[in-house]
Amino acid sequence: MIQKIKIIKTLFIIFSLSFSFSANAQTVEEIIKGRKAMFSENYQNAKKISILLKSKRIEEAKPLMKKISDNYKKLLDYFPENTKEGFKTEALPSIWENKDEFNALMQKASGDMIKLAKVIETVEDIRAVQKELMWSNCTACHSKFRAPH
Ligand code: HEC
Repeated sequence: MIQKIKIIKTLFIIFSLSFSFSANAQTVEEIIKGRKAMFSENYQNAKKISILLKSKRIEEAKPLMKKISDNYKKLLDYFPENTKEGFKTEALPSIWENKDEFNALMQKASGDMIKLAKVIETVEDIRAVQKELMWSNCTACHSKFRAPH
């Protein structure tokens, strides 16, 4: 009887382990589409932030800044070696040739959104600060790491 319970327990553990492994492994398609979706979401939120800040709705803009920052952090894991091509990716090979630089830009972009949320209340020129801490990071990265279109 005890033997049987042990076997069932072992089978259960093996089953749940293999299930969680397969649940974690994303396909190339899921990864490329996933990162495109996060960049698009960031773009939508960046535009919303600009509109909100124009009418001084700072408190409503802050959670969107946090959301963009979080997406950038997640994006660090969305460029594994096997996702260089396919599924209409615009990612350039230079990403994998300069992975440290690419990751550093992603981390800077993430940190700058937190900074933006912190300083936005006290700055005089809201547009200039948005440019410096939000939009300039898009261009800095795209000019080297995303295909022109
Ligand atoms: C550290 C690098 C980096 C930063 C910072 C960055 N991007 Fe990108 N972005 C990329 C790369 C690489 C791609 C191409 C992804 C792909 O096609 O696989 C991309 C793709 C996109 C896309 C296209 C998504 C799609 O559906 O194909 C949009 C829109 C975009 N970025 C907007 C932005 C905006 C707006 C910002 C700034 C607020 C920004 N990105 C910041 C690297 C970056």
